Amino acid sequence: MAIKAPRGTADILPQDAALWRFVEKTAAETARNFGYEEIRTPVFEHTELFQRGVGDTTDVVQKEMYTFNDKGDRSITLRPEGTASAARAYIEHSMHALPQPVKLYYCGACYRYEKPQAGRLREFHQFGIEAFGSTDPALDAEIIALASTIFKNLGATGLELNINSIGCPECRKKYNEALTAYLSSHSETLCETCNTRLGKNPMRVLDCKSPVCKEVAAGAPQILSYICEDCRAHFEMVQQYLHAMDIPFTIDASIVRGLDYYTRTVFEFVSTQIGAQGTVCGGGRYDGLLEELGGNPGPGMGFAMGIERIILVLRAMGLVKEEKNSPRLFVASIGQTEAALALCQKLRGYGVYAVCDVAGRSLKAQMKNADREGAKFSLVLGDEEVHSGEAQLKNMETGEKITVSLGDIPALVALI
Ligand code: HAM
Repeated sequence: MAIKAPRGTADILPQDAALWRFVEKTAAETARNFGYEEIRTPVFEHTELFQRGVGDTTDVVQKEMYTFNDKGDRSITLRPEGTASAARAYIEHSMHALPQPVKLYYCGACYRYEKPQAGRLREFHQFGIEAFGSTDPALDAEIIALASTIFKNLGATGLELNINSIGCPECRKKYNEALTAYLSSHSETLCETCNTRLGKNPMRVLDCKSPVCKEVAAGAPQILSYICEDCRAHFEMVQQYLHAMDIPFTIDASIVRGLDYYTRTVFEFVSTQIGAQGTVCGGGRYDGLLEELGGNPGPGMGFAMGIERIILVLRAMGLVKEEKNSPRLFVASIGQTEAALALCQKLRGYGVYAVCDVAGRSLKAQMKNADREGAKFSLVLGDEEVHSGEAQLKNMETGEKITVSLGDIPALVALI
């Protein structure tokens, strides 16, 4: 039986790749215009990075990681997200010594063992940004503006921005007491995992995917009512700056995000056009993460968008990207494959898209192929052409032919 791709993975076929390139390029160019520079981190990391960074009572760490022991018996995990890796790299490469904030963007595959459905895969791709070294609410607003500008530049409309503040560890103490009291009164309804979370990290009950827990979470007290003066003032400034940049938003006090590192501002961009998995982008501030990972204390903030979900949004809007890449010259040959290969190779040295037959076709079939590929020009190499060093260059659109010298490549390049 033929082997199929593992469940929850997808091939990106040539006809889809143009749209992927458009999304990746637009996102990266927009981030660069905001002063972000690219970072590439490994696809796998020490498991401990995510246990400490993302948090060991999160769904991601408890249920979804691809973790294995390598041949050296080290516990390794395929990255489920990019923030912990970027923070690790910031610490490892002493980026605190650089002018702050340090602004990084990345794009790559992430892995989560989730139940696959439309917009939810086990291997998916994120475009994300992280900025380290500033607590200023101006950074929060600018980061949200960056996500919004990426969507604008992609032509993705109909996305709604929801924001919230989940306060600092100080606000959380009071909140956790109230939340624990509420959740304990529903403990017989909660799933087993959530019952163990109750004593350790009650906020994680709020983003459990189990329908029963979701129902309980809907009636829970909300953190926004418990945040301290400083966190409230910070959140108000974020809103003021968003207004100043004409970025519409809604405050959604139910957003808590599913990862442990968040503090203060959190936000999501949601689409109603792509089904249940409508969150296209999620992010927020994480002022305790660097310290949690063993670095000097320092703030950070960022977001990640799911490329598969963006593609679903763009397709729902009817956007199609076709990049027909047609040869400038098709070199047909009659028993002169060697000369045809050599001529194409010389032309490619000049950056020309040139092709010849590599499938042993008849001349008639070769010319049909040249037509199908949309070649602008063609020429035929037979014994006579190879001996004389001259051939007929044919304009495939007009049918016009001119004689060209095969020895003068720059002159040939200038003609096609
Ligand atoms: P996240 O909300 O877990 O946040 O993921 C960000 C985005 O990745 C989601 O909004 C969604 O579009 C996409 N995504 C997540 N899981 C899947 C999946 N299984 N299949 C398809 N797409 C998915 C983070 O990962 C944080 N690191 C974001 C962040 C960066 N916060 C601060 N900086």
